[in-house]
Amino acid sequence: MLNLTMKDSLNKIYQSVDDLETSGSLKKYRIVSSPQDSWLIVDGKKVLNFCSNNYLGLASNKRIRSAAIDAINKYGVGTGAVRALSGNSILHEELETALAKFKKVEAVMLAQSGFVANLIAVQTLLDKEDIVISDELNHASIIDAIKLSQVQTKLIYLHNNLASLEEKLVEAQKFQEVKRADGTDKIILIITDGVFSMDGDLAPLPGIVNLAKKFGAVTMVDDAHGEGVVGENGRGIVDHFNLHGQVDIEIGTLSKALGVLGGCIAGNKKLIEYYKQKARPFSFSTGLSIPDTAALLESVKILSESPALVDNLWKNADYLKDGFKKLGFDTGHSETPITPVMIGDENLAKSLSQELFENGVFATPILFPMVAKGKARIRVMPSAAHTKEDLDFGLKQFAIAGKKLGII
Ligand SMILES: Cc1ncc(COP(=O)(O)O)c(C=O)c1O
Repeated sequence: MLNLTMKDSLNKIYQSVDDLETSGSLKKYRIVSSPQDSWLIVDGKKVLNFCSNNYLGLASNKRIRSAAIDAINKYGVGTGAVRALSGNSILHEELETALAKFKKVEAVMLAQSGFVANLIAVQTLLDKEDIVISDELNHASIIDAIKLSQVQTKLIYLHNNLASLEEKLVEAQKFQEVKRADGTDKIILIITDGVFSMDGDLAPLPGIVNLAKKFGAVTMVDDAHGEGVVGENGRGIVDHFNLHGQVDIEIGTLSKALGVLGGCIAGNKKLIEYYKQKARPFSFSTGLSIPDTAALLESVKILSESPALVDNLWKNADYLKDGFKKLGFDTGHSETPITPVMIGDENLAKSLSQELFENGVFATPILFPMVAKGKARIRVMPSAAHTKEDLDFGLKQFAIAGKKLGII
């Protein structure tokens, strides 16, 4: 018998950290010591915030802060237990109702994060005999959700390519002809991001829905970057394409445009009830805290009241994209406020980010494995809270650094 100590068996893990350090690839997390505003204090330095998902500036909004504080004063902070036991707060119920109304769906179930919402949605629905068809550029949480479901037939279609999706559906139908061991029909689940977070392009949802109807497939869209951004008052991608009632499962993230934390699953009443009965992260993990939930209720209220923030976000995004183009930067083919400044080489993207930071702009590089090798970029994220002066400052620093590094 081998006589390994626990420490010996972890040597490979420790070595991988040393290797990252030696190769200069060890991620260093910068420290933010200010509210999430247009300008931040990062590592003790005042910098323009150009890389947050806080699309509408709600993360530090006064009304949202007050809502959280009032709720803490009334209910405390924690919920004490999983929702299935004693932790089902009246605020959780109110938020689910408010989100369902906002998204124009029958029902919503909260999750502890967008990542968890994806895990729940796929893992609870599918078993190993079902079939999943996923866009090749779907988010990591969808990839992990598929792994967790243990589904054996996984078909990957070319990014946003309906012909490729149709080919996979034809393949899937052949697998579906053989029933499950218990004699029931296998599910074919098509999953796509709504807005692709690294490029800012939209999924061709009407085409996906049509194909799903033709082949009897179930549809799921992860609207993490669409909520609060596209559709009327930021109702999301289903609203943007006017496909209400035609997408079976909508995943939302409450940590980006809504400014707080959490995720949600939206769909018809029966499906959401199924998730509430069966989902393991719902049954065995405590729900959102009181201040998070109260803050989110206020975010939904703000969005429902007026399109002003969403309009401002788009105005800023258009101004920024136009500015980058005029300077000669390649900003890819984004259809949303996500503004990828394409660089290609990883080291060059890192140098640009460092140069920008030294000159007062916080814009992190996006590198492999977040994007394919050779497709490094700086993903600039405008917010509704940026002023024209903020955007001009950012563009000016990009121009200076871009010229210095020979990018433009
Ligand atoms: C497309 C997509 N889905 C899900 C998530 C996870 O959301 P959360 O941060 O709320 O867990 C993200 C966040 O990066 C995302 O971009």
